[in-house]
Amino acid sequence: MNILICYATSEGQTRKIARFCASQLIAHGHSVEVIAATDAQEIGLSLFDAAILAGSVHAGRIQRELADFAEAHAAGLNTLPTLFLQVSLAAAGEDADERADLDLIAQGFCDGAGWRPGAVHHIAGAFRFTQYDFFKGWAMRWIASQRDHDVAPGMDTEYTDWAALASVLESWHAP
Ligand SMILES: Cc1cc2nc3c(=O)[nH]c(=O)nc-3n(C[C@H](O)[C@H](O)[C@H](O)COP(=O)(O)O)c2cc1C
Repeated sequence: MNILICYATSEGQTRKIARFCASQLIAHGHSVEVIAATDAQEIGLSLFDAAILAGSVHAGRIQRELADFAEAHAAGLNTLPTLFLQVSLAAAGEDADERADLDLIAQGFCDGAGWRPGAVHHIAGAFRFTQYDFFKGWAMRWIASQRDHDVAPGMDTEYTDWAALASVLESWHAP
């Protein structure tokens, strides 16, 4: 299959996840194009047999450029096998309320675009202190302390479960 992976990222973790997905799918014999949503508005979906969209949660929202892409291509996406990967820190925890919020964020994103993905998965992201400015770094240290995350100042801490993501891809592209 020829598979499109369109992603949006603010600090880089979703790009890493998109590239990981590409390497897994290529290893299974697929052709893959990975493209940032900012560069994808003109892309033709007719070239592809399936698509993955991936974006990350910031203050309860997915990046605007991914929403624009999903909305612009909803009709085409709805005819393909598709997967939405929503990256967040809440997905790294077990808090039921936060998990319910993640479902609402994903639902709002998809409904807003008019896109009905074949599957939605929540993927744990990362603290990227190497990418944060002073204020973001301060806010994220506070969030880390509230969640009992043991983060080292100035360093990145990754929660993405790569083996679980590989399993998601296996079960998605297997048919
Ligand atoms: C300013 C800011 C706001 C964030 N807001 C949320 C949030 O509302 N819920 C959540 O679960 N994670 C939140 N996160 C965590 C990100 O989703 C997480 O760091 C993710 O790995 C970012 O992916 P990216 O590097 O691809 O942008 C936030 C991170 C930052 C820096």
